[in-house]
Amino acid sequence: MSESDDHSFEPGHFRDVMGHFPTGVTIVAGMDADGAPHGFTIGSFTSVSLDPPLVGFLPQLGSETWSAMSASGSFCVNVLSDQQSDLCWKFAKSGAEASRFDDVDWHPSPSGSPVLDRAVAWIDCAVEHVYDMGDHHFVLGRVGALDADADHDGAPPEPLLFYKGALGGFSAEG
Ligand SMILES: Cc1cc2nc3c(=O)[nH]c(=O)nc-3n(C[C@H](O)[C@H](O)[C@H](O)COP(=O)(O)O)c2cc1C
Repeated sequence: MSESDDHSFEPGHFRDVMGHFPTGVTIVAGMDADGAPHGFTIGSFTSVSLDPPLVGFLPQLGSETWSAMSASGSFCVNVLSDQQSDLCWKFAKSGAEASRFDDVDWHPSPSGSPVLDRAVAWIDCAVEHVYDMGDHHFVLGRVGALDADADHDGAPPEPLLFYKGALGGFSAEG
């Protein structure tokens, strides 16, 4: 039995059901070998371990953005706010990788990766290991520095959420 024969559902059904799991939205960013910034929208970010401090995310096999930034050995995860939905779509658009950072304000993290202005939080990592899992890599990062709510005047920002293909905000109820 081949891997594609051992289940009875279509890929579209898998995608649809997984879309019922709400996620936060991040832009994972890093520098290429020539010192140019690269980044993509990533929902598969997760905290992995507290001691040592490890996080991870899953880029698709063959991702241009991941292959450009992986050479630097580091990356920064930027958690988007509900005021940054434009960045979510901009950094998910394929064929426009080179212009994703146009008109985007950022500064370097301690490891040199982009920290986006007005993100809810940023997590700066060194690549610990890259595992291949199905049609994605799992990139495990060791956290070197991180901060939240850093550059906001007044009220802290609210996070952006992704659910069933649409973006929305968070409202606390308990
Ligand atoms: C909300 C959201 C979450 C996403 N999460 C992921 C993800 O976890 N992994 C992934 O490979 N692509 C994810 N994508 C799609 C990528 O952002 C998109 O395919 C992008 O073009 C990848 O850049 P690349 O073509 O340079 O690799 C997500 C897109 C959106 C809108």
